[in-house]
Amino acid sequence: MNNKDLSVFLRSLVTGVNTKVPLADGQYVTAVNFDNAATTPPFTSVMNDVVNYAPWYSSIHRGKGYKSKYSSKIYEEGREVILEHVKGDSNNDVVIFTKNATESINMLSYQLYQQDPDQVILSTEMEHLANDLPWRDKFKTDYVQVNEKGQLSLDDLESKLIRYKGKIKLVAVAGASNVTGIINPIHKIASIAHQYGAKILVDAAQLMPHIEIDIKPHFHDEHIDYLVFSAHKMYAPFGMGALIGPKEDLGKGKPIYHGGGAVRFACHGFIQWEDTPSKDEAGTPNIMGVKALTTAIQTLKNTGMKAIHEYENGLLRYTARKLKGIHGIKLYGYDEKSSRVGVLSFNIEGMEHYMTAQILSKEAGVAARNGLFCSHQYVVKLLGLQSAEIQYYCDNPQVALPGMVRISFGLYNNTYEIDQFINMISRIVQYKARYMRYYKNCKDD
Ligand code: ALA
Repeated sequence: MNNKDLSVFLRSLVTGVNTKVPLADGQYVTAVNFDNAATTPPFTSVMNDVVNYAPWYSSIHRGKGYKSKYSSKIYEEGREVILEHVKGDSNNDVVIFTKNATESINMLSYQLYQQDPDQVILSTEMEHLANDLPWRDKFKTDYVQVNEKGQLSLDDLESKLIRYKGKIKLVAVAGASNVTGIINPIHKIASIAHQYGAKILVDAAQLMPHIEIDIKPHFHDEHIDYLVFSAHKMYAPFGMGALIGPKEDLGKGKPIYHGGGAVRFACHGFIQWEDTPSKDEAGTPNIMGVKALTTAIQTLKNTGMKAIHEYENGLLRYTARKLKGIHGIKLYGYDEKSSRVGVLSFNIEGMEHYMTAQILSKEAGVAARNGLFCSHQYVVKLLGLQSAEIQYYCDNPQVALPGMVRISFGLYNNTYEIDQFINMISRIVQYKARYMRYYKNCKDD
């Protein structure tokens, strides 16, 4: 398939690509969604499968009725689909269904805390808050540094592993950054971590929709011990995510949520917990979420992760080249050589990030995201803010926070949309003073 046909085919997979949205002047235009790192629209296959399954919807693990048995089977098979997709080991790994990657990491932090609170967790300066905050209140934490290009320093990783003399039990790292799109060398990091007796958690929220993931066998020094992700970033809404990890580790502690489904038998005075994953999935399970996620995985696989990655990379390079040609655009952490997913963060010199994002939406129907992207530490570092400036923003809650504008691609985006975006950015730069006057009262809402 040539690139044009591929682009048309990929666009046909997604629901809502022709939705019209209003502009400031009251006209309607086809929406351009460049905010896929936040959430993706659903695959049409996902919506169809959810609707087709609806007549069979019933409670999981709680009934003898045909529909209940059928629904339980789909739910349990979902774990196999996920594990197979990341090349996990069904004898040794467990897939725990959660709401999203954030809940998965919180759950893991709680499990590891019960096993040994006296350990050090090594996160990184690149992380989303979900892979930082859950560790902070339970463990001593430290962070692998990033360089001025936003890349992780593997030298710093190794020197910290050496310095803590075996106390670091987990290296918690993003598979790809939600700010710069940089793909981290997770297998290399795994191998370094394992050399010093640490395990590795990969937050794959920004990886799963874009590239093939292979967690590799347990005996392999590049094995990924824990993996988390969110379905809503991979074309499957309905509130689903997963935590994948060794059954042995995750089976040990008490669950974070207590309730029906998590216990074998509990009367006053005693609780007998189920084994994982049931113990970790209290309450009525989210079967619609599992149905959606498994269909999304199937659609991604049928499309081919390699083709998706190459296509999205083409969009990224095309956009970066054009943006670089516009005077007064500052790109953060972008360089053509390193491996990345389709995310670009930038600012227009002299214009607040929220004003740029607002103008893109109101004047061209382009949805970008702006701000700190829940990766505050990373963004302030890339912006080059000093401690005094950070303190100023802390002390003055009425002042709008600093930030960037981010565009992030999904497989259904195309160069036609990018041209619209680039034209709008060029117009903003050309008539900056006029746009700034017109939008001077816009706020970072
Ligand atoms: N929701 C977060 C983002 O948009 C991860 O980057």
